[in-house]
Amino acid sequence: MIDYFKYAVDSDGICTLTIDQPDSNANVMDQNFIDSLQSNLDRALADASVKGMILTSAKSSFVAGADLKSLEESLINPPEAQELYEKCWAFSGLLRRMETAGKPVVAALNGAALGGGFEISLACHHRVAVDSPKMMVGLPEVGVGLLPGAGGTQRYLRKLGVAKALPLLLQGRQLKAAKALELGLLDQLTNADDLLATAKAWLMSDAATAEQPWDTKGYKIPGGNSPMMPELAQLFMGTAANLQANTYYNMPAPQAITSCLYEGMQLPMDKALQIECKYFVQLNLDPVAGNMVRTAFINKTKADNLIRRPQGVDKCKHIKIGVLGAGLMGAGIAFSAAKAGMEVVLIDRDQEAADKGKDYTQTRLAKALGRGRTTQEKMDATLARITPTTDYSLLSDVSLVVEAVFEDRGVKAEVFALAEAAMPQDAVLATNTSALPVTGLAQTTSRPNNMVGLHFFSPVEHMPLVEVIRGEQTSDQTLAHALDFVAQLFKTPILVNDSRGFFTSRFFGAFLNEGVTMVAEGINPALIENAARHLGYPVGPLSISDEVGLDLAYKGAEQARADLGADFKEGSSVPIITRLVTEHERHGRKNGKGFYQYNDDGSKKLWSELASIWPQLPKDQQPTEAELQARMLHAQLADAATCLAENILVDPADGDVGGCFGVGFPLYMGGPFAAMDTKGIANVVAECDRLAQTYDAERFAIPQMLRDMIKNNQTFYGSNPVVTSA
Ligand code: NAI
Repeated sequence: MIDYFKYAVDSDGICTLTIDQPDSNANVMDQNFIDSLQSNLDRALADASVKGMILTSAKSSFVAGADLKSLEESLINPPEAQELYEKCWAFSGLLRRMETAGKPVVAALNGAALGGGFEISLACHHRVAVDSPKMMVGLPEVGVGLLPGAGGTQRYLRKLGVAKALPLLLQGRQLKAAKALELGLLDQLTNADDLLATAKAWLMSDAATAEQPWDTKGYKIPGGNSPMMPELAQLFMGTAANLQANTYYNMPAPQAITSCLYEGMQLPMDKALQIECKYFVQLNLDPVAGNMVRTAFINKTKADNLIRRPQGVDKCKHIKIGVLGAGLMGAGIAFSAAKAGMEVVLIDRDQEAADKGKDYTQTRLAKALGRGRTTQEKMDATLARITPTTDYSLLSDVSLVVEAVFEDRGVKAEVFALAEAAMPQDAVLATNTSALPVTGLAQTTSRPNNMVGLHFFSPVEHMPLVEVIRGEQTSDQTLAHALDFVAQLFKTPILVNDSRGFFTSRFFGAFLNEGVTMVAEGINPALIENAARHLGYPVGPLSISDEVGLDLAYKGAEQARADLGADFKEGSSVPIITRLVTEHERHGRKNGKGFYQYNDDGSKKLWSELASIWPQLPKDQQPTEAELQARMLHAQLADAATCLAENILVDPADGDVGGCFGVGFPLYMGGPFAAMDTKGIANVVAECDRLAQTYDAERFAIPQMLRDMIKNNQTFYGSNPVVTSA
């Protein structure tokens, strides 16, 4: 065992256990960590001179969370239920021992304590934390399909009562120090210099106790513990209804957390902890948790750490950047960059348009200020970093320019030429085009090596993903510096090779196309929308088509038709959208008319005339919801597989992270590749073949690679040789 803890006892008998994992800039919770906690605890408990313990960390955070490597290994070779239970109980039982062993323990939190790190703190008898903006505590496990399995649900329950604990756990809320203090999840706040002294003072005071409230005689859970109490009965009923409405029971973790509280409140602590452990094991054995952990935690963290960044290129810290086009996207990019501390030159055709782009930041920050989410100083400083202008000469000292003008090759070529003439030779020229191939755009410039695609999503300041597109001539340095920019924006990059629609736009398009196509087949539009939502898509395909704009989809198809000539393959939804736009002036939400009718009061209703354009099948001939779901899902799975086979995606991880964080693919499935592994590649191929025969050979066409994978008994996250990443 490598000991992660430093052990020191002072002359007052206070033992300080400092977690300091060797050769690492954070403490991660692996087996060594747990073994270290156990052996150091044993030592302190056995040492008669020790009166109390302080648990703290030598790193900038208290404990960083689970170890990625061992998590990944356990996804590839999942342990048996019994082994998992023993592992879970080894940790949870150890924390229970710590809180009942008779010596007081204080958690002295010098930095963030989330998940397992906060569970350790909750098992201490007192919690002191540094009062800093970086201090965050909470139990966010639900976000990766899990529950806190080391007592977190039971200690929240016993500290806060069901009514407060349940929403915190179901939302996986991360709390700032002041909020956690107010709730009673922290006991004291202090400055960094006084942290250990404050912890020690409590241990030396009369208040020091080695008994948790729930182990004292006569203790009652705040708000009660009987399922027969009307308040609690209603609360659990309402929660069950909400879970159905929000998750359609696609995610087992929220249900398991609710059960932990429902059963746990009626049981003594030791028994309740065992129940929690059982639910933890159950979730771990469910593919939903595995897929969410892999995509939302392991692969997203790797992407955030720039796993695709070419090696050997110096890091670029962007201090000043340019944005061309101050419309919806340009304004959002300028806002995000200024908020992240970069100077931004925001250029548009005239000063008024450029100013309007800056107003976007002003409006959003004013709202945030009103809600107490920023300060006047911060708002002023962010606004001061944006210079709206028409003057390209201000780009003379930028390290990167992002273009976000109209989706028109001619207009883009015009602004590239003006920018190139002004910006430094080695600066990155990025385009935010949503579909035009980057290699072609690069040909219109004199520096195709400096060109890269940075595909942002709307609204830029909220959407976490950026699709980075490598053109045929994009240099390693350009790609590396573009990725550095994405990291500076605190966004997650995926890397794709150039092609029309890259990955996310065409993958998303496959879903929309399938849903819209169904309308002309006479399928009830409400059935289409509900089928998608019940499968876990946040919004149905018709709603989303309206949001994106039917006119934009129409124009995009026309542009592709013009570009590709005889090679253009018209999507099955194009005639439907063309008819709505050209014959009925239905452009989508923007003009209040799309598949839905939008009313002035903000409400919307499916347009009643759809049925007179495309008569609906009689009720008894409408397809089942499962059939519609199979079509929408497999159209996307087939498309994702094609992207990998054609090297548009270099790794399934980019497809999974991009699908879930960019274009609303249900996260509980972990993305298209995780979903294919879980369903079984042979089953996916058989279903696509069936759908191809029934509906359309092209939309469900499966690349040979997938058939070969069946022959070779491969999976995407097992032994598939296409996987290139570590
Ligand atoms: P927009 O129409 O809101 O903004 C375009 C801006 O470019 C306008 O302010 C316009 O005045 C300016 N502009 C036009 N010609 C110019 C010129 N010659 N010089 C300087 N400025 C000029 O468009 P939006 O939605 O911001 O889209 C911009 C780009 O981002 C397009 O390529 C689009 O395909 C892409 N995109 C759009 C997304 C969206 O959700 N709207 C998502 C991802 C990419």
